[in-house]
Amino acid sequence: MSFIVAIDGPAGSGKGTIAKKIANKINAINIDTGAMFRCVALKALRENASVEDKDKIRKILNEIKIELKPNGKVFLDNEDVTTKIRTEEVSKYSSPISTIQEVRDKLLNLQRNMAVSQDVVMEGRDIGTVVFPNANVKIYLDATPEERAKRRILQNQEKGIDSNYKEVLEEIKQRDYRDMTREIAPLKKAEDAIYIDSTNLSIEEVSNKILEIIEKNKI
Ligand code: DC
Repeated sequence: MSFIVAIDGPAGSGKGTIAKKIANKINAINIDTGAMFRCVALKALRENASVEDKDKIRKILNEIKIELKPNGKVFLDNEDVTTKIRTEEVSKYSSPISTIQEVRDKLLNLQRNMAVSQDVVMEGRDIGTVVFPNANVKIYLDATPEERAKRRILQNQEKGIDSNYKEVLEEIKQRDYRDMTREIAPLKKAEDAIYIDSTNLSIEEVSNKILEIIEKNKI
């Protein structure tokens, strides 16, 4: 049986960075499920498929090929889209795209298959609640919207992008609201998940906390 660490939480909570670090430490593969939803969103945008156009979305899901490489690169239909899935446009569209049942069913299948023969650290919104309700370790990583907006602005600055704090904060709040109130697989803490607030913690502190929890659960 593979060892599964599920990390859920809102955008900007630090899941991505932390999951990568933890996976390295425990020799597991890191699966960023948000990147998978982003791939569907990018393909839908390219093919002008609206969220309501179920036939087009179904066709996209039948044809789509998503690969998460061990080096962190993301491939959509054999094309490297690692940076293309991180644009504002794709970020915005991935949220409504992720409310479609067919999209979730397709990705759920892919996600479960990825953990059949290898240990995984999987991060997303519904990993501990829906994808792996029996995960060995479940973490719900959180931070205040204000702190997450600050982190996003810093990330943007590193990429040479200027952003407005108020706008970023508003966008984060809207995305939280959509992700937490959608009918299917909403973002919420699994009852047995361990809640970690990263607002005042460094990346090192958060990953050490999680590594301690993993150690206890491995025994
Ligand atoms: O983690 P992220 O920001 O890259 O995720 C992109 C979008 O995909 C986000 O709006 C929520 C959605 N998502 C989801 O619904 N379920 C997941 N397991 C992961 C992401």
